[in-house]
This record gives sequence, C-alpha cells and structure tokens, in this order.
Amino acid sequence: MLILGIESSCDETAASVVKDCTELKSSVIASQALEHRQYGGVVPELASRRHCENIYFTVEKAMTEANVTFSELDGIAVTYTPGLIGALLVGVNFAKGLAFAAGKPLIPVHHITGHIAANYLAHPELKPPYLCLVVSGGHTMLTEVKTYTEFQILGTTRDDAAGECFDKCARVLGYPYPGGVEIDKAAKKGNNRKYSLPEPKVNGSALDFSFSGLKTAVINIVHHAQQTGEVIDRESMAASLQRAVSEILTERTRLAAQQTGYRTIALAGGVSANSGLRESMAEMCRKENFQLYMPPLSLCGDNAAMIACQGSYEFLAGRTADESLNAYASKTLIGEMKTNSAS
Ligand code: KG4
Ligand code: ZN
Repeated sequence: MLILGIESSCDETAASVVKDCTELKSSVIASQALEHRQYGGVVPELASRRHCENIYFTVEKAMTEANVTFSELDGIAVTYTPGLIGALLVGVNFAKGLAFAAGKPLIPVHHITGHIAANYLAHPELKPPYLCLVVSGGHTMLTEVKTYTEFQILGTTRDDAAGECFDKCARVLGYPYPGGVEIDKAAKKGNNRKYSLPEPKVNGSALDFSFSGLKTAVINIVHHAQQTGEVIDRESMAASLQRAVSEILTERTRLAAQQTGYRTIALAGGVSANSGLRESMAEMCRKENFQLYMPPLSLCGDNAAMIACQGSYEFLAGRTADESLNAYASKTLIGEMKTNSAS
C-alpha cells in the first residue's frame, strides 16, 4: 500500500510517500521559517502564497525520490485541519485535484493525529492503546490513543499551548522566530534554578494545563528589568522556563498514566524536540518503569511523512472523503477524537 501525504497547515509545504503505513519512501519539506523570521512570526498571507508556489514541486520531488508513479498510489492523504485557513486550503485543493485526476481516494487527516503517528514511522512496534502527550505550537493535550484512528482527550490547555509559551517568551527575550528551539539552545548554557517561576494551577481538572501565567511571569520579570536597568541573564531565564514547562508536562503525564493505568507513553508535536522535556520524560518513565516513545528530531516538527502514515491508517479504517472536503482552521477534535466529558 502506497500513500502520498501532503501538509501545508502552517509554514512548511511538505509531501511524502509512505509504504505499508510505516516505511518511509520519501519526505520533502520546503520550509518558509527563515522568511517569516523577519516579521517575528508566521504571516498567514505570505504563507499561503509560498505554499501555492512550492506545492507542485514539493509533491513532484517526493514522488520522484520515492520512485513511484501516481497510478501506483493507493490514496492521497492531506492535512485538512487545524491550521491557517489560507495555508490549509492550498494543500486541500491540490490534493483534491490530484485525487480526481489520478482517480485515487482522498484521505483527510487531522494534523494532531499526524503528529501522534510520527512515532509509528520510527517505532513500528508501538501499537495502540497507549497514552500520548501532544505538545505543538497550537496544542497541548494528553490523549488516550485507543486505536490508530480513535482518541480520547484526558486533558488540554485552558489558554496558551506550551509551544506558544516558548515562542512568546523567546520573543520578549530577544530571540528570533521560531523561538522554541532558541530557548532550547540557550537553556543549555543557563542556570535553570536562577529565576523562580510560578507553577500554573488549574482548578477543576488535574490533567488540564495552563501556560499563560508562566508566560506573563517571564514577561513581567523582563519588563521590570528593562525599567530598572537590570540585565536579564537570558540563558538562565531560558533554562528556568524550560525546566518549569518540562516539569509541568512530565508531572501531568505521570498523573494521567497513574489514573488510566497505561504503562506505554508517547510524545508528539514540535515541542517534543525540546531536550529538557525529553530528559525529564525519560527520567520519569525510567523511575516509574513506563515504556517511552519519542519521535526522532527529524519527525517532531511539521512534515508530510506523519500525514502519509496517519493517512494510511485512516484509509485502512475506510475514512476517505469526496470532492466536497473543506479545510477548517480550528475544527474541534470531537468527531475526530472522542472527548472525555470530564475534561
Ligand atoms: O508541531 P509544530 O511543528 O507545529 C504546530 O503544529 O504547531 O510545533 C511548533 C512549535 C513551535 O512553538 C516551536 O517553537 C516549538 O514547536 N519547538 C520547540 C522546539 N522545537 C520546536 N520548542 C521547544 N524546544 C524545541 N527544541
Ligand atoms: Zn504541527
């Protein structure tokens, strides 16, 4: 079974061919990150235009590198939600046209489920059910992965996502976009106990997250220092922030595992590349004797291999779409994922 995956939800135009769910035949990513850097973040209109320019060549390259023809494909998978609407529409319409022209099934993929599936590419032995911590630029959630295509959310962020918190704090500290990776680099040279940051509390659900208080605390310390002429130790602030975020994510994950009884845990999303988070999760899982799976760094950020992989499982579950498929900026996970009413 050969599935072509297409991803265009943010600032990466990507295409990939995957064989039999987990065998990577090609993965091509045209990143716009450096272009958006000069504006301090992703400019949606610019992203859409670049996707239009890049998508044809990206797909062509992925097909050539995989040495596969369109007639050999079993289906075309595409990210249809969530993301920047103009950016998503480029991928969805391109995939629709291609599926129609090639006479192949069209497979809609939820971007977050794609991030989870990145683990199967590196660790085909990982099989549902298990517990997954999803940490990306727009989402932070703990979910049960019940089957390859069924999920149950146990906890989610009440405000900012972990990636958003890293990015906003990085910006106020003067690091360029995308800030998460800059915080990670700087943290390696800093003292992670120098600044004491609040531990965000969430009333009601023990498995929900809140990162806006942490972000505000960093912004306030930086602004106060600017007003009083004090010099901020940026590397130690980065290290302190990274420790605080990693500890919260790790502790909530431990609690979720304890409550649900899962002993297999996976990490997913762009922030799963963070070295502090990877270390603290690894340490917790060692202590608790949990089996931990993490995507390799090359598959943590946005890519189309994860979309082709999840698309393969969606295809096997019979979840295809017709030409009426639309893109959605923020389709809730209900329908895609079953939401726990208690969360
Ligand atoms: O999953 P992703 O590539 O895109 C979304 O679906 O949102 O995640 C992007 C997020 C950004 O906030 C970025 O700063 C963060 O992942 N990120 C990191 C690291 N690498 C990427 N955050 C912390 N440490 C990193 N090494
Ligand atoms: Zn993503």
